[in-house]
Order: sequence, then structure tokens, then C-alpha cells
Amino acid sequence: MVRKNQLPKFPDDYINDKAEEYDSSKWMERNQKRSTLSSIQYLIEDKLNEDWVSGIIVGDSPLILDLGCGTGFSSVILMENGFRVIGIDILNDMLSKAREKKRNFKDYKDLELVLADINYLPIKVNSVDHIISISSYNFITHGLQNYGEKVKLLNDTAKYLNKILKNKGRVVIEFYPKDNQELKIFNKSFINNGFEGFMVKNKPNQKSGQTFLLMKKC
Ligand SMILES: C[S@@+](CC[C@H](N)C(=O)[O-])C[C@H]1O[C@@H](n2cnc3c(N)ncnc32)[C@H](O)[C@@H]1O
Repeated sequence: MVRKNQLPKFPDDYINDKAEEYDSSKWMERNQKRSTLSSIQYLIEDKLNEDWVSGIIVGDSPLILDLGCGTGFSSVILMENGFRVIGIDILNDMLSKAREKKRNFKDYKDLELVLADINYLPIKVNSVDHIISISSYNFITHGLQNYGEKVKLLNDTAKYLNKILKNKGRVVIEFYPKDNQELKIFNKSFINNGFEGFMVKNKPNQKSGQTFLLMKKC
């Protein structure tokens, strides 16, 4: 079971009966929902853009990608806040729980679920308004030991995210960097590949811990 104050292990904490445990944990649901609501607030952060009202498309059911959507806690909150959502996850055990929710609720017609890797997205260029990722982006370098390989993968992924975003599209990544180096390479992968923005940490002196990357396509 994924515990408070402990970084989860990928994929072990998200497969077989762990996927069921994850989905039935009220603490996890609250936690994911809280982080998603904060990210929606950050999505309209006015410091990212002076003309922020035109920066984010308001009241027009913008299309958002939920990267690493898991069992759908974040995707549901996004839908409830007026977004059309494409949820992407690499693990069928997690995604199938989100699919169950979609089957059970007729109102979830604005949710599409796709089994795919964040690093190789089957999404058309210039097609999405915004991108969000809650507690998932840390895992995309899973299995890579070498610093150079990690940097290359992060850069390639950020470049592709830039391509699939429409003009003025925004990205909010909530993640838990394990150290200062990881924090830097995640941030730089966006800044060096067509984004501008900044980081927000609830506990600024803590190098690891919850971090929000707020980025805008420039
Ligand atoms: C903490 S969980 C999901 C959090 C999600 N926000 C929710 O509401 O349930 C992290 C998810 O990231 C997914 N993930 C990890 N690496 C991935 C990758 N490379 N591509 C797509 N999904 C990935 C995992 O399968 C897992 O479901």
C-alpha cells in the first residue's frame, strides 16, 4: 500500500491487487483531488501571462491531457471543472479502474482513456489546449540509471508536449523530485524546449517534496 510521506514504487505499487488498494483508498482519493484542484488554480496563474484571460480558454470545454491518469481521480475533477479530458496511463491495471468509472457514469462522456506511455504519446500535433500531470511525471525516467539518458528522455518528451499543445497552451506538472538534481533536470527540460514558467513548492526549503511546474508554451 502506498503510504503517507513515502514515495511510491513504480510499477509495484500500481499493479494487481495494489491497483485495487490504490483505487479504494479514501486518503489517496482526497490527496489526488486536492492536488488536482491546486493545479487547476495554477493553470490560470496570472503571473504566467499578463493577458491570462485570453491565455486560458474559459468556458469553452478546453481539451486537457491528464498524463498518468491512474484510476481517474484527477480526470474526474478536471471533468467536473469543465474540461474535456484525455487520460493517458501505461498500466492496464490502473486504467481499467478508470474505464469502470466511465462505464458506470453516463456523465463521463467527456473522458477518453488511452493506454499509452507519456514518452510516446499517440496524440496529434497542435491538438490539445492544456496538459496536466498529478503525481505521475516522476516515473517517466523509470529504469534509466544514466544521467545523460534521463536528460535526453526528459528533453524529448518536453519537446513533444510542446508540439501537441496549441498556441498559449499550458502545462502543470505536480511531482515529487527525489533530489535537487532531479528537480533541476525536470525544470530545465521544459525551459530548454519551448516553454517559459516557474516552479512552486509548498515548502521552499525542501528540495524534494511536492513541487508544481507551471509552464506556458512560448
Ligand atoms: C499516482 S498514480 C496516478 C495518479 C492520478 N493522478 C490519479 O488520479 O489516480 C501514477 C500513475 O502514473 C502512471 N505512469 C507511470 N509512468 C508512466 C508513463 N511512462 N506513461 C504513462 N503513465 C505512467 C502509473 O501507471 C500510475 O497509474
